[in-house]
Amino acid sequence: MTDLPAVDPSDPIQPAAQAARLDALEAAVRARSDLVPELGIVLGSGLGSLADDLEGAVAIGFDELPGWPAATAPGHAGRLMLGRLGGRPVVLLQGRFHLYEGNDPGLVVQPVLLFRRLGATAVVLTNAAGGLDPGFGPGTLMLISDHINLTGRNPLVGHNDDDMGARFTDMTEAWSPRLRARLRAAAMAEGVELAEGVYVGLVGPNYETPAEVRMLAALGGHAVGMSTVVECVAARWAGLEVCGVSLVTNAGAGYTGVPLTHEEVLAAGAEAGPRLARVIRRFVTDFER
Ligand code: HPA
Repeated sequence: MTDLPAVDPSDPIQPAAQAARLDALEAAVRARSDLVPELGIVLGSGLGSLADDLEGAVAIGFDELPGWPAATAPGHAGRLMLGRLGGRPVVLLQGRFHLYEGNDPGLVVQPVLLFRRLGATAVVLTNAAGGLDPGFGPGTLMLISDHINLTGRNPLVGHNDDDMGARFTDMTEAWSPRLRARLRAAAMAEGVELAEGVYVGLVGPNYETPAEVRMLAALGGHAVGMSTVVECVAARWAGLEVCGVSLVTNAGAGYTGVPLTHEEVLAAGAEAGPRLARVIRRFVTDFER
């Protein structure tokens, strides 16, 4: 279902155009489910298994929603799901839209804006990432303490909608200290080790060169990936509390001398994904607004 015209890259979705698109998205979701989520969760590469735990799940394919294309990234199911996790009403995004797929930043962030529209007040962003910190090997779970947006893209460029968010969005505590403390507590309760650090977002889709990995580490990054940062920006704009975890699937390029493959990224996601799922399930169960 695509009632809205495809996005023309020379005519990006401006912040002021989001409300009308969200009206259509909200109506399409409400035709299928009246569940009001407290929390939204974006499941990254290979992390989709949490969706299996959803009780009373309603699943809506991305391409069934107005203006949304099917997900193209391997390892991404491409579904919006509503249901209960640990008894709490949540909305899940199984897969996401990436800039590297040629998507407009305004589309990439629409799922988190839709979470807000549906009633969520907080969002959990997960992703697969490469380790920039030499101590972060495959399988490391990294609580995101902050980010560096090196995508060169920003979903807030263009006419603002002051009813949705401020023109100049504060990012001082973009990654909520309150929710980070709760994620640490959830990990502790589950006996899962959680590292912590700064996520660097690039456009991709190629992996980094070893020189880029050294540069990003020198800039203060601890993990690098191809998602998350513009979603965080839009979520903060729209007043959502944000937290997230990177699943480090591989050491950054050049650290091991072995080429990176998407298969190893998916394999590490499959190995560590259930650990991350346990942490998130506990976090959701204990969540307080
Ligand atoms: N770089 C960027 N994105 C990634 C990586 C990486 O090494 N691993 C998984 N996603």
